[in-house]
Amino acid sequence: MRIAVVGSGYVGLVAGACFAELGHDVILVDNDERKLAALQQGSVPIHERFLPELLERHRGSRLVFSSDLRKAAEQSAAIFIAVGTPPTEQGEADLSYVESVAREIAGAIRSYKVVVEKSTVPVYTNTWVRKVLLLNGAPGDRFDVASNPEFLREGTAVTDFLYPDRIVLGADTERCAHLLRELYQPLTDGSYYRRKNAIPEPDNATTPPPVIVTSAKSAELIKHASNAFLAMKISFINAVATVCENVGADVRQVCEGIGSDSRIGRRFLRPGLGYGGSCFPKDLLAFRAVARDAGYDFHLLDEVMRINEDQRQRFLRKVRNALWTLKGKRLAVLGVAFKGGTDDIRESPAVCVVEALLRDGSQVAVYDPAAMERAREVLGDKVTYAANPYEAVAGADAVLVLTDWEEFAGLDLDRIRALLRYPIVIDGRNLYDPEIMAGRGFFYYCVGRPEAAPRTEPSTRPVRSETPE
Ligand code: UGA
Repeated sequence: MRIAVVGSGYVGLVAGACFAELGHDVILVDNDERKLAALQQGSVPIHERFLPELLERHRGSRLVFSSDLRKAAEQSAAIFIAVGTPPTEQGEADLSYVESVAREIAGAIRSYKVVVEKSTVPVYTNTWVRKVLLLNGAPGDRFDVASNPEFLREGTAVTDFLYPDRIVLGADTERCAHLLRELYQPLTDGSYYRRKNAIPEPDNATTPPPVIVTSAKSAELIKHASNAFLAMKISFINAVATVCENVGADVRQVCEGIGSDSRIGRRFLRPGLGYGGSCFPKDLLAFRAVARDAGYDFHLLDEVMRINEDQRQRFLRKVRNALWTLKGKRLAVLGVAFKGGTDDIRESPAVCVVEALLRDGSQVAVYDPAAMERAREVLGDKVTYAANPYEAVAGADAVLVLTDWEEFAGLDLDRIRALLRYPIVIDGRNLYDPEIMAGRGFFYYCVGRPEAAPRTEPSTRPVRSETPE
């Protein structure tokens, strides 16, 4: 099928490349000519596993780039809208980009087409898109507006798309549902998974994925409610972690105990610095606004957001407790991305923490395996940038682990301790085992687990032991 995907951000670019991988002819549309030229020339604008392979496979053949939205819409049976929906000052989703795309494609609708919302949008957006299309001259019997929400996570976006837990098709007519089913058929009939060069299956994938056909409105709500529920799980476990700290229990054990109840599940129960990124913070605000507009005060979401904010403040208090004063302290920060596996620093808890440390007068050296360039755009020359974790740590008063990169879990701890001025690790992501850290001579602070102190007294005494509690 020939399809157009409008917007070459995370969702649009990954969806476009994956639809091409499924055998469709994709026109990826963006109004940023520089970005298009870079994509055409082979650059990969985001750090995303398997995306370079897919772009290499399909660029110039099944995946082409264009800034001509109208022409792309004319040539396509389905037009996916994957443009940004940033929050307004009131926290609602700004739908002006969605509206302008709808306005522009209205004139291109002559034969039957499906206009599909792929961006996360509030309920009723499909009704508005339909109205805009009609007002701008699209004949009502030649199109349907559908919602096909995307559940991909940054870092694992390609495998999330190709091996989804489910495919949600929000279609209000059978004709529209049929077209969308056809698009995903290589996944739902399993033929993609039998291909020799298929992107490898991740752990825990269920293939073929089930299809859930709903009304467009329900699909819009499924996306907001899913993100809100996942964020709630994270805030819940962060709150439990605080109780664990207060009573001296271990949140890992508590997670194992509650997560092994199949009704609860183990995933998204990792306590840490709270959720960040370009989705949860924005979507919680937007869903809160959607509920309010619909006449329901969803106070639970306020609490989820409050706990999330508090989690960063609690971590900063932990740093102050471990180091006493921060002015003039040299701190090594491992990780600036909002989570491991991505170079994205939007709404990154790590960046918030670094900014607070700088306000307190600390000198910060940062290292991140992928997000250094983006960190530079935001933090400029307020911090120094290390070429590797060991360079960041050299001479520092403490190490702060702020992103859950796998490579941080495998660091040479003896080397780290030897490089540090004081053997203090403050881990916002629970990457290490307190027992092991104590055995290696560290003062170790983490989330929801008791602090650990060196079992063998290190040669250099930490600041903390010299100061009153
Ligand atoms: C999230 C959802 O997981 C996707 O399903 C959804 O498609 C996407 O938003 C979206 O709406 O586009 P993403 O923001 O890429 O995906 O990242 P997540 O893996 O969900 O992590 C979000 C934040 O929660 C990160 O800061 C992460 O560190 C944090 N997190 C996650 C925890 O603190 N604990 C956990 O157990 C899991």
